[in-house]
Amino acid sequence: MARQSGSLTSLLSRSRFLAKTRYRVCRAILVNNIVSFFIVSFFLLSLAACGPSADPPRATSDCVACHQDATPGIVIDWELSTHSTNGVDCVMCHGGDHRTEEDVALAGVATPDVCATCHPIQVEQFAGGKHALAWTSMNAMPTTHFLPMALTEGMKGCGGCHRIGLKSEEEIKTIKAQDGLFGLSSCDVCHTRHLFSVKEAREPQACRTCHMGFDHPQWEMYSSSKHGVRHLLKQNGTLPEHAQAPTCQTCHMPEGDHGVRTAWGFLAVRLPMPEDPQWAEDRATILQALGVLDPDGNPTPRLDVVRQADVARLTQEDWQRERDRMTGICEQCHSENLVRAELAKGDEMIRETDRLLAEAIRIVSALYRDGVLVRPEHYAYDYPDLLAFHDAPSRIEQ
Ligand code: HEC
Ligand code: HEC
Ligand code: HEC
Ligand code: HEC
Ligand code: HEC
Ligand code: HEC
Ligand code: HEC
Ligand code: HEC
Repeated sequence: MARQSGSLTSLLSRSRFLAKTRYRVCRAILVNNIVSFFIVSFFLLSLAACGPSADPPRATSDCVACHQDATPGIVIDWELSTHSTNGVDCVMCHGGDHRTEEDVALAGVATPDVCATCHPIQVEQFAGGKHALAWTSMNAMPTTHFLPMALTEGMKGCGGCHRIGLKSEEEIKTIKAQDGLFGLSSCDVCHTRHLFSVKEAREPQACRTCHMGFDHPQWEMYSSSKHGVRHLLKQNGTLPEHAQAPTCQTCHMPEGDHGVRTAWGFLAVRLPMPEDPQWAEDRATILQALGVLDPDGNPTPRLDVVRQADVARLTQEDWQRERDRMTGICEQCHSENLVRAELAKGDEMIRETDRLLAEAIRIVSALYRDGVLVRPEHYAYDYPDLLAFHDAPSRIEQ
């Protein structure tokens, strides 16, 4: 019987329905008329899902017993997790197909779909936010494909951070064959495996591994701002627990919303065009150098890429919604006047920067037309391609 239910466990444990049922049944104890083979199995599974006091199904005790030698650190973290105390075991996330040292390749991938069986809200929010698109937007960049594969394959380089994005089943298969179980699951970047700690995810350090460095120095900006310094002083016990100090999450994940998105975004270009004629002209030049508009100002196929990867807010409403949400958060601690003035300063900086950038683009553009600089063949127009980033052909374009 034990053996039968063991193999049935492995057979059924990958079905969403079962995982959902296990979770629900655990809470709502239990089945009363055990009439069929299936229900007997559910009964055993439910007991296991109710916590460490019940007999765990054989499959999981097998995993743990062997992994205490194979990967002791993982077992320790899992034992410390609320998953372990709630009976969410190895089999529920990895399936039960892999049972020996020889069949490691059969271990299942804990994709967000697997987490969704028990945490549908977080997965749905995440899927609607910008993080979910990180893999897509990275692959949409020409620069990604100029880099030598040895520098990018295997969640190195761009993928080291952009692994947070959702991947298709096909992509997961390819990556798993190359790398094993790493970089496929998205959900383990802020609450890292196998603790999956909500406390860890609430601290700004959870964002630090990616939101740092010269092209997105949010950690450096935050940790040296009054907001960040105050929070760090709270962490080391200098300031009292209830001293006010916003974290990245306070401003970007209000009420635990997993769907992150800002008004301006990374590239700080958006539609509709601004009313200020100079700014509108500068932004048109930038859109042309992004390859989104052709020299006549008409949309190119790249606009579809931008749309798919949600790189820019394309309507006033899309932008305003995020701006209003953010303003509401600041106003929990500051006056409306301070907030309006501070955000306006930010917008003004974007306008000034657009001025400088557009001027530089026009200079390079003229050098292409005059034949002083050689335009690379794969550039469609007489514009430097901003999406080549640091891989621009010469120092002048860079
Ligand atoms: C007889 C020993 C043994 C048993 C039983 C066992 N494993 Fe493993 N498992 C291993 C070894 C060895 C590795 C490879 C570790 C290494 O390379 O250092 C591994 C690797 C894994 C991996 C990583 C796969 C990858 O591609 O990197 C996962 C996930 C995993 N096991 C989960 C489980 C689960 C879930 C169970 C129970 C259903 C289980 N293991 C049962 C020995 C075992
Ligand atoms: C079979 C159901 C199940 C699956 C699958 C599952 N979880 Fe959980 N998870 C739980 C339960 C039960 C809790 C404890 C909830 C509670 O205390 O209310 C929990 C708690 C959590 C917490 C909060 C931990 C804390 O410190 O309080 C996080 C974060 C989490 N899970 C993330 C994940 C991620 C990421 C995945 C996928 C890799 C996942 N879970 C898969 C059932 C599941
Ligand atoms: C809540 C879901 C969940 C549970 C429970 C869980 N894992 Fe994992 N496991 C993951 C995720 C997510 C990954 C990362 C996969 C990736 O990045 O592609 C992972 C990766 C792994 C890896 C390979 C990565 C590495 O760091 O070596 C091993 C080995 C592993 N798990 C073993 C286990 C064992 C053994 C247990 C039970 C003690 C277990 N897991 C329980 C979600 C889970
Ligand atoms: C960008 C970082 C980040 C990523 C990625 C992330 N989380 Fe979270 N998660 C958080 C934060 C922050 C919290 C705490 C929210 C709060 O304060 O209520 C949290 C809380 C949770 C909780 C506990 C909710 C509760 O109310 O107890 C669960 C469950 C969870 N996340 C699941 C997931 C799943 C599933 C994924 C993958 C789709 C995921 N998370 C990806 C940051 C993240
Ligand atoms: C006090 C609130 C607040 C805190 C704390 C905060 N941010 Fe922001 N963040 C903002 C505002 C406001 C914007 C600009 C929004 C807009 O586009 O109008 C922004 C923009 C961003 C952007 C979009 C690109 C950019 O740089 O403009 C990212 C990414 C980001 N923040 C991440 C983080 C991370 C990571 C942390 C923590 C290290 C953090 N933020 C801390 C308020 C905050
Ligand atoms: C594993 C790396 C990683 C971690 C950890 C991470 N992020 Fe991100 N984040 C990214 C990437 C990559 C993007 C760009 C996504 C894209 O391509 O659309 C991004 C985008 C964002 C954006 C959207 C900016 C925009 O364009 O509007 C916000 C806001 C953000 N992250 C906040 C956070 C916060 C807050 C945390 C911590 C709780 C966090 N991130 C943790 C990698 C990460
Ligand atoms: C250290 C982590 C890290 C590395 C490495 C990294 N990125 Fe990013 N990337 C991020 C973060 C974080 C954001 C979001 C920043 C923001 O909004 O200010 C981002 C944003 C982007 C965006 C903008 C997406 C959007 O929709 O706004 C693109 C495109 C991008 N990265 C491409 C790449 C490429 C190509 C590489 C490799 C050459 C790369 N990244 C390497 C962390 C990283
Ligand atoms: C959780 C409360 C909280 C939130 C939310 C918050 N702040 Fe702050 N902020 C503070 C505290 C506390 C200080 C330090 C005040 C001081 O220097 O005496 C501060 C300082 C500042 C300062 C430095 C100027 C000064 O008065 O010292 C600026 C600018 C600022 N915040 C802007 C913002 C903006 C813009 C937002 C929203 C994007 C925001 N803050 C959200 C609490 C908050």
